[in-house]
Amino acid sequence: MEVFRSKGEQSSWSAREASSGSSIGFVPTMGALHAGHLSLVDRARRENGKVVCSIFVNPLQFNKTEDLETYPRTLERDLALLKEAGCDAVFCPSTQEMYPEKMSKRYDFGELDQVMEGSHRPGHFNGVAIVVNLLLEIVRPHRAYFGLKDYQQLRIVRRMAEMEGHSTEIIACETVREADGLAMSSRNVRLSKDQRREASTIYKALVRARQLYPHKDPAAIKQEAISLINASPRLEVEYFEIVDAITLQPLERSSEGSPAIACTAVYAGEVRLIDNLSLNA
Ligand code: PAJ
Repeated sequence: MEVFRSKGEQSSWSAREASSGSSIGFVPTMGALHAGHLSLVDRARRENGKVVCSIFVNPLQFNKTEDLETYPRTLERDLALLKEAGCDAVFCPSTQEMYPEKMSKRYDFGELDQVMEGSHRPGHFNGVAIVVNLLLEIVRPHRAYFGLKDYQQLRIVRRMAEMEGHSTEIIACETVREADGLAMSSRNVRLSKDQRREASTIYKALVRARQLYPHKDPAAIKQEAISLINASPRLEVEYFEIVDAITLQPLERSSEGSPAIACTAVYAGEVRLIDNLSLNA
């Protein structure tokens, strides 16, 4: 497995592989890898000749310095896991290498960016879009793999790829969960034992929303889900929304025809967890 720290090395490798006829599958990450990330790598390996993974904790997408500073960093372990998973190359640049100059680019994602993560974390998706655009320019993959766990991110990345004219196919992958339903996340390691136990309520509330969706209005479902989560002493809902899965705008009524999704962000102490579930399944 190759490990590249410079943009030049990664893009030369990609150019070489592509010209020798290999398709390239790409999995961008911020490291602290878990089975969710590895499921993306697995799929990329099945569908492509070569697999590249990137590990870069992108400062531009953190709106709280504390979250950036406490973000888990486990590079040696990550590299071992990727090698075992059959990854061919890992791109792990420094911040200086990625951003030698200040990045001032501003994307306009319209209403996609004005709800949920976009409204609670100003600038977050602009930072995500900047780094994913840059990574796609460097790696030039045929396919790039993203988790449905970060549903709004996936919508934003698709829009960015369209706006930038990338030929890369953006592929959505199912959320990998712990046995009790909690979505795997690099942030889960920061949960105390009690917070970890209570955190499974987030998935329970999403499943409850899915059960109620055909029978009740979104407002009533939202209330019930929020009460269920907040009944856990260590959890506090930041938002719970039932939105159109394409436009991400809140739905007034159930079954308005287009696919719907419930999305939530919940604090367990200082740790912010997000999750979602399609309501049409
Ligand atoms: P990170 O949180 O490391 O996630 C990397 C990829 O793994 C994302 O596409 C995310 O949706 C996916 N992922 C995370 N948890 C998952 C789970 N439980 N099941 C399935 N997929 C999961 O998302 C980012 O990094 C960054 O924003 C990034 C896109 C790399 C840009 O910096």
